[in-house]
Amino acid sequence: MDFQLKPLGLVQAATEKADALVVLVPAAGTDGKDRLASLIAAARKSGDLGDKPGKQLAAYRPEGIAATRLVLAAVGQGDAAAVRSAVLAAVQALKAAAPKRIVVLFAGTADAAAIAAAVSAAADASYVYTTTKSKPEPRSLRQCVIGVDKPAPLKTAFDTAVAMVHGVEFAKEWGNRPGNHCTPSQLAEAARSLAKAPRLKCEVLGPKEVAALGMGAFMAVAQGSAEPLRFVVLRYQGAPKGVAPQVLVGKGITFDTGGVSLKPAAEMDEMKFDMCGAASVLGVFRALGELQPAINVIGLIPACENMNDGRAIKPGDVVTSMSGQTIEILNTDAEGRLILCDALDYAKRFAPEAVIDIATLTGACVIALGGVRSGLFSTDDALAEALHSAGEASQDRCWRLPLDDEYAEGLKTQFADVANVAGRAGGAITAAKFLQRFTSDFAWAHLDIAGTAWKSGAAKGSTGRPVPLLLTYLLGRQGTAASPAPSAKRVRKPS
Ligand code: BES
Ligand code: MN
Ligand code: ZN
Repeated sequence: MDFQLKPLGLVQAATEKADALVVLVPAAGTDGKDRLASLIAAARKSGDLGDKPGKQLAAYRPEGIAATRLVLAAVGQGDAAAVRSAVLAAVQALKAAAPKRIVVLFAGTADAAAIAAAVSAAADASYVYTTTKSKPEPRSLRQCVIGVDKPAPLKTAFDTAVAMVHGVEFAKEWGNRPGNHCTPSQLAEAARSLAKAPRLKCEVLGPKEVAALGMGAFMAVAQGSAEPLRFVVLRYQGAPKGVAPQVLVGKGITFDTGGVSLKPAAEMDEMKFDMCGAASVLGVFRALGELQPAINVIGLIPACENMNDGRAIKPGDVVTSMSGQTIEILNTDAEGRLILCDALDYAKRFAPEAVIDIATLTGACVIALGGVRSGLFSTDDALAEALHSAGEASQDRCWRLPLDDEYAEGLKTQFADVANVAGRAGGAITAAKFLQRFTSDFAWAHLDIAGTAWKSGAAKGSTGRPVPLLLTYLLGRQGTAASPAPSAKRVRKPS
């Protein structure tokens, strides 16, 4: 979809030809004698519009308006959250009319966050998945014009928002693809396709290279599948070589049956989404390639299937991770942490400023936080704060959960250095405690996106989260390399 930022006031907007003109109406202001201002005044006076965000009033071919449809959408105080819900509601309501060109006009003031909210909401509400349909009905919306009083100061925010949408839609596409159209090899090819952008490189390792590295935990999960594993290394270099990179590690289980500890049949299809952490890393790199910011970023994706098979790992098996720690696999369905622990150990070699893993890791996190906020865990307060505020700013929120050592008690076993599961209690935290054992060399954060990466039920589909959070965090690192967060532990020599 094509987005445009255009100087538009109420008077000019009335003459804009479009399938729909969506006017974002603040609780106060916008007085004038022109056609749109009078319509807004009348709607306000009658009380039909109100100022609750999400409330809207629509008309077909209203006199004096060039657009075919007019939607007045209340945005209250005009903050980003209100703009997001107003645009979502308006574009959803217009779906039946299948508009090709819409104009979203800010009748009140627009700041950077509000512009980003309008762009991302218009994209979200008009998105359609088509890849595996035989007669796809593609997205009808071709062009979305964002009209503001003075575009110049909002240009950077607008460009960032558009790149973010491209990243989110890349993540949605790969998240939504069924397992047989998103194998580890296909996911790796998707990563490779991103490396056409300047400053971006992609390297893909297969079973032989991964074995040579000694990634015994990752290989153990992959061994039950006929699909060969892939380990993707993406590099974006936008800053000088010596600047320590941010490393993103994305869980890439392209299908999770649970293995021998088989999952129940109901809703098992949703385990095609178990690579949404990986998809979010791809989405971020898609946006980095477009924006070319002055930072260094590494993306690591361990990708494989978790299958039930004659060669599959069995409960009680003990494997040796790349770090040398032995792991007793008590439940083969706790496979995400097994592939991540080797990828986290691999991250050391980049002498990173911070390592963030992103994973659809636990059902327990869905119970704890639902689908609103992702779970955030971190051994570094400055990093946790930076991620939390990036989530607030981009409306892709997360919430920090604790990492007290007492939570690791249940991971103790007499047969290995650590077990891969503890009891049911605090399951999202015990999973994070397992991962923490592999992160002592750098500042680390873990995002459990099991509840936020996709929606179930009628609106089933990938959300593209947490691409907005991650991208906002990364863009905020520009120019901070000389003065890293004070508490960030840094390793200078590759190990
Ligand atoms: N991919 C799942 C986590 C998951 C479950 C995400 C439900 C979204 C919805 C993960 O691999 C898993 O199976 N985790 C287990 C861990 C348990 C065996 C300790 C879980 O959460 O049940
Ligand atoms: Mn599992
Ligand atoms: Zn899983």
